[in-house]
Amino acid sequence: MSNIKWLQVENSEQGAEQVYQIVKQELEHNRLHVLGLATGSTMIPVYKRWTESELDFSVVKTFNLDEYVGLEASSPNSYAYFMNDHLFNKKQFKETNIPNGTAVNLEEECQRYEADLQQSGLDIQLLGVGENGHIAFNEPGTSAQSVTHVAQLTESTLGVNSQYFENDEKIPETAMTMGIASIMSAKQLILLAFGEKKRAALEKLREGEVTAEWPITYLHNHDNVTIITDLQF
Ligand code: GLP
Repeated sequence: MSNIKWLQVENSEQGAEQVYQIVKQELEHNRLHVLGLATGSTMIPVYKRWTESELDFSVVKTFNLDEYVGLEASSPNSYAYFMNDHLFNKKQFKETNIPNGTAVNLEEECQRYEADLQQSGLDIQLLGVGENGHIAFNEPGTSAQSVTHVAQLTESTLGVNSQYFENDEKIPETAMTMGIASIMSAKQLILLAFGEKKRAALEKLREGEVTAEWPITYLHNHDNVTIITDLQF
C-alpha cells in the first residue's frame, strides 16, 4: 500500500481548515513559493477560508490546473473568472497563471504553460476529483506521461459540469489541462473530495491498483499525498 495520508473530516469547512493549516505552516517556514490551484465547488470553502484570513500570499506564484477552451476570462463560466471571483480579487499574489483557453495556437500555449510551470516548480498542488475519477481535466485513459495538453471532455464530465453553466453559454467540449506528469511534479499533493458522488473515485484509490481508467489512482505514484474527505470507508 502506498503512503497516502487520509484525513477524515466532518464537512467541507473542516476540510478547508485542514488545508488552511497546511498552507499557513508552509508559508511560515518559507517553503511555499509556488502553489497549484484548482477550481470547482469543492474549492470554494478553501478560498473563503484564505480570503477571510491574514495569510500573506504576496511572495507566492500560482498556477491553475485547467481552463475551458474558447472561454474569455470575462465569461462567468471560465475558470479565470472563478479564480478572480473567489480568490484573486481578494488576495494579492506575486503572480497568477491560468492556461489561456483563447490562445490562437493552443499547442504553443500548452508548451509555454508547461515550460513556465516546470521552471517554477510546484511546492503544493491542490486537487479536486471528478465523479469519473478525473483530476484536473485528465479524463479516463490519460497517460501517466501526459503534460499540459488540450483534452476532450467525456460525456460524463460535460453532463456534470454543464449544470454550473450560466447565461445559456454552451459548455466547451475541450479544455487545456496540466497533464498527469505535470501534476506529479509537485512536491506535495492535497486532494479534497466531499459527498457521496465522489465515493466511487475514492474507492478506486483505496483499492490500490494504478489504472489509467481512474486517473485519481496515479496518486499512488507520488510520495507526498494527503486526501481530505468527509466520506467514511
Ligand atoms: C472540474 C475540474 C476539476 C474538479 C472537478 C470537480 O472537472 N476540472 O479540477 O476537480 O471539476 O468539481 P467539483 O469540486 O465542483 O465537484
